[in-house]
Amino acid sequence: MTKILCIGAGYVGGPTMAVIALHCPQHLITVFDINEKKIAEWNSDNLPIYEPGLLEVVQQSRGRNLFFSASDIARHIDEAEIIFVSVNTPTKTFGQGAGRTADLQYWEKTARMILEHSSTDKIIIEKSTLPVRTAQAMENILNTNAKGLHFEVLSNPEFLAEGSAIQNLEKPDRVLIGGHDTPKGQKAVQTIVDLYANWVPRDRIITTNLWSSELSKLVANAFLAQRISSINAISALCEKTGADVEEVSYAIGRDSRIGPRFLKASVGFGGSCFKKDILNLVYLCESQGLPEVAAYWEQVILMNEYQEARFVANMVSSMFNTLAGKRIAIFGAAFKANTSDTRESPALAVCRGLLAEKADLVLCDPHALENARVDLGEDASRVTFEKDPYVAADGAHAIAVLTEWEAFAKLDYHRIFDAMVNPSFIFDGRNILDRAKMHEIGFNVYSVGKQPLLHFKQNSTD
Ligand code: NAD
Ligand code: UDX
Repeated sequence: MTKILCIGAGYVGGPTMAVIALHCPQHLITVFDINEKKIAEWNSDNLPIYEPGLLEVVQQSRGRNLFFSASDIARHIDEAEIIFVSVNTPTKTFGQGAGRTADLQYWEKTARMILEHSSTDKIIIEKSTLPVRTAQAMENILNTNAKGLHFEVLSNPEFLAEGSAIQNLEKPDRVLIGGHDTPKGQKAVQTIVDLYANWVPRDRIITTNLWSSELSKLVANAFLAQRISSINAISALCEKTGADVEEVSYAIGRDSRIGPRFLKASVGFGGSCFKKDILNLVYLCESQGLPEVAAYWEQVILMNEYQEARFVANMVSSMFNTLAGKRIAIFGAAFKANTSDTRESPALAVCRGLLAEKADLVLCDPHALENARVDLGEDASRVTFEKDPYVAADGAHAIAVLTEWEAFAKLDYHRIFDAMVNPSFIFDGRNILDRAKMHEIGFNVYSVGKQPLLHFKQNSTD
């Protein structure tokens, strides 16, 4: 039996360890977090995050070989042979690199905590996403100790996407493990390869040097986000030319060199990772004297901000250039479907833009209202939070669909239309609605990257 500790019980630490525990009943896994409320929730059936299938996986191992704890960190660290660190690494908001590089304070505190409580050698695994060469800093902190202990630091970035975390962890496209090319480094890499091999086919486990592993995580997210920004840029051109962005996506995606995934035009990408990790990459390039490379990747973020702003501007101009006092139902707060997470959600960016126009907002989401209230901060007092979409749309001038929850596509839009103010507008920021049907019901329909379907002649400067 190996004792494994994970520090950080968030979106990554919790699900990752639950799946490892499920497939490795021979090992004892403890997930520790300083947030006591979160740990209490992990120990209940009301988990701190909404993720399909997660509760079932947790229930199978919890109390057997999976434990969640907010206390006794000294003992947990000392007993563990392997420590995964999956604490948050948000974008720094102060000092050097503010607004760009990762804030490593939680990370460094964890390293010092590990050092303080250890009396045996350990493998330390970077699960968090980190700037390249962070492992070096970790090693410098850990291995300059007077105890004569050796800590072997590995990088094992996580590629799960929220909303499909369990599926991604059960059947990953690949598992990436980076380590030093030294006997101790390679022995540690093999230990972690063997751990994953309990359920992941060996040919899906990739091993690299530490820096390649750290960088690959940032690059994977940058490439994924780049595809979305690319198709979103084209969606603007489609709206001007009469091309349909879904037809364009389909046509180009059929080229096997391009492939069909991550080509869905939308109101923009969100989530805690894409923006943060690209900013991190941009900062890294700048600090390595590569301003052209930095500017290239920064454009992915600028295009995303343009797409969000363009969506708001389109709502304003379509609704006769004023939203002041108009009730608008916002369908979706989460940054994508099947998650309660609202970090960097384009829905909240659009809400802020509409509030600046003095619109009267009713925000509706099946799972993310609590997080939205927190993330909106002071603006939350100007928003009504409503779980029932029919109530949200009652008396509204417009609906904006900002998260692709399946439930939003299945509503009775006849009933909704009848309770709205005329003319009624629907802005589909995710292209999930049946446009023709919406138009037939009576809505003026705006989609991303398509011509609007209207019941009146639009003033046009084109
Ligand atoms: P999160 O905020 O959900 O969870 C991080 C947890 O770490 C929090 O619960 C926090 O209380 C805890 N923590 C912070 N300092 C601690 C300490 N000293 N001791 C114990 N616990 C501590 O973050 P997350 O979304 O799980 O992301 C974690 C890391 O994984 C980040 O680096 C992120 O970039 C990366 N990542 C996230 C995703 C994702 O989909 N969310 C996917 C891949 C990688
Ligand atoms: C992402 C990466 O996919 C994952 O590998 C990494 O570990 C963490 O970051 P996540 O942010 O959870 O995962 O979700 P993802 O499915 O990538 O979606 C990110 C955003 O892009 C969402 O707002 C989503 O709605 C949007 N998106 C995605 C599009 O707008 N169009 C697409 O075609 C795909």
